[in-house]
Amino acid sequence: MPNTHHAAPYGGAAAPRKAVTLARIADMHARGEKIAMLTAYDATFAAAADSAGVDCLLVGDSLGMVCQGLASTVGVSLDAMRHHTESVARGLQRAQGAAWLITDLPFGTYHESREQALRSATALMQAGAQMVKLEGGGWTTDTVRFLTERGIPVCAHLGVTPQTVHALGGYRVQGRDEATAAQLCRDALALQDAGAAMLVLEMVPAALARAVTEELSRCATVGIGAGRGTSGQVLVLHDMLGIHLGRPARFVRDFMAGAASIPQALRAYVDAVKDGSFPDDSLHAW
Ligand code: KIV
Repeated sequence: MPNTHHAAPYGGAAAPRKAVTLARIADMHARGEKIAMLTAYDATFAAAADSAGVDCLLVGDSLGMVCQGLASTVGVSLDAMRHHTESVARGLQRAQGAAWLITDLPFGTYHESREQALRSATALMQAGAQMVKLEGGGWTTDTVRFLTERGIPVCAHLGVTPQTVHALGGYRVQGRDEATAAQLCRDALALQDAGAAMLVLEMVPAALARAVTEELSRCATVGIGAGRGTSGQVLVLHDMLGIHLGRPARFVRDFMAGAASIPQALRAYVDAVKDGSFPDDSLHAW
């Protein structure tokens, strides 16, 4: 629910805005208005991002690396995702509560069966998520249909899928050749048919991400290292604030550079996504 009782706590007078809904996301995709998404893991940053005008917040399982110091997302538990979702949801309520809240289903919590996925998704929705995200192509379509038929909005995730980093052999660009690009397109359409309303495309060639976006009529795409042709962009919050435990990915821009404060950097990110100046071509040379 949008919270109209609290003034925006960060960055001063954020203009009141309507809560982002599934219908609004679909409309933005249809009209070509760019969707600005960021990850969030705690209440304070969630409130700051909401006040800055971020459309969607993702409680990403990247929290394994960012908050827990893990080497990958594989070790992240459902309990951890629930805990951070509750914190982010509370932070949103302290701000405008306009951003749409998505939470990752972590590794191993939707792989066994559709029923297991439903139990895991239910826990995250009850923690405050409005949509769950899961990784993978063809094998997930049954699960996506099962969840969406039961009223749980789903965001899919193709390209580099960090939960399968070991099987992929590292964070390597996906869909470079004709066969894998065609498979990715087929998977995207199947996920849309199964009811996915959003699709994260991670580290895929810009031309492929654009083509997939143009093919999808009911499913908005959000790119990360996928060029500027997607319906929106997402970055890991800490990356765009210029703080990393390791080397930043090539597609990351440090929005703190040139900003006087974190709220200003967050607003610069939203503005750059909305006006199409992020990402620029130098950030996705694949
Ligand atoms: O876990 C995460 O933060 C993500 C984004 C990078 C898309 O999945």
